[in-house]
Amino acid sequence: MSDGLEGVVAADSVLGYADGNTGDIWVRGHTIADLCANHGFEGTVAIIWEGFAGSGLTRAGMQAALGAGRAQAHQRLGEWLPPGAKFPLLEGVRIALAALREDSKPADIAATLPVAIAALIRTREGHAPVAPDPTLPTAADFLRMRRGAPAAANETQALETYFTTVCENGFGNSSFTARVTVSTRASLASAVVSAYCAFTGPLHGGAPGPVLDMLDEIKASGDIDGWIEKKLASGGRLMGFGHRVFRIRDPRADVLRAAVASLNKDAGRLAFASEVERAALAALERHKPGRPLQSNIEMNAALLLDAVGVPRDAFTQVFAIARSPGWLAHAMEQQKNGRMIRPASNYVGPRPAD
Ligand code: ACO
Repeated sequence: MSDGLEGVVAADSVLGYADGNTGDIWVRGHTIADLCANHGFEGTVAIIWEGFAGSGLTRAGMQAALGAGRAQAHQRLGEWLPPGAKFPLLEGVRIALAALREDSKPADIAATLPVAIAALIRTREGHAPVAPDPTLPTAADFLRMRRGAPAAANETQALETYFTTVCENGFGNSSFTARVTVSTRASLASAVVSAYCAFTGPLHGGAPGPVLDMLDEIKASGDIDGWIEKKLASGGRLMGFGHRVFRIRDPRADVLRAAVASLNKDAGRLAFASEVERAALAALERHKPGRPLQSNIEMNAALLLDAVGVPRDAFTQVFAIARSPGWLAHAMEQQKNGRMIRPASNYVGPRPAD
């Protein structure tokens, strides 16, 4: 038995390869650098959905399909916005996804997230939702729908890089959840609802918001080393460090750091975050000697999302915009090739009395 299924190979997959010891990530044969430079978010979605959601998929075709999906989600706003807006964002987005039709197409499911998140944020700020522009890429249109005006080119580019970088990452907890759900022949819509729920926990997609909370607390304490020592001595975890697969530095962290730097904003905060990172890595080495605990992507992801004006409590949801095509790719691959997932357990409970 492997605690937390660590190292267990659960299926063959053509989608994502991650070698935590060398720091290599490939998405269907492409490196992250290649995806960012040459394919962008929509091109990456076309690559991972090829053969599952159609064939001959292209970046332009995917941009059109996701744009049409956003227009459709906006038309159905009345079904999920009034109930969803009464609750915190995490729950409001869950309500929007739960309102999806059983036979929803992959692009319509993925396109619901940017529309729902932007509309829910605007509604709670007292503004009317902004209709999508189906001709734009997802990153540009999300910022536009959230703000009510187009974002600057470098902001759009930074968010596009973020979306592309985190779109697919193998058998992460939420992608595996999507596979488990469709393995019973449940729908793709149900797969995404369940994946989203798994994603919201602070050990997975819920980490970026708490990373900024941590940076703020450390800053307010005025003592980086002292704060970190206290946290680790009390058995707490430092958000933004450690990964089940990446035991050396996660290569995506550097791509995101460059994207944050390109925004030319908050240079002071970036420098402070680097200082915290250095101190945290040294402290983790002292407290957990021999256990490789490196920076994951969340620190730079949090700084990037904050710099483009995403509210802190929406970080996880915006991360889900990027990751949902990955969930869908896994769900479709499972539908095509997989058998129902039903592991066994080792019974350690009492035996019946004779
Ligand atoms: N800070 C302090 N200690 C840590 C951290 C951390 N960030 N991460 C792991 N550890 C410690 C654990 O306390 C444990 O110590 P022990 O063996 O003395 O009990 C040991 O390292 C191993 O921890 P595990 O929980 O077994 O590591 P696992 O591989 O299961 O967890 C995880 C990975 C959940 C990411 C973990 O490192 C963590 O909680 N990190 C902080 C949250 C975070 O940044 N999450 C985002 C991950 S990226 C993503 O999901 C997109």
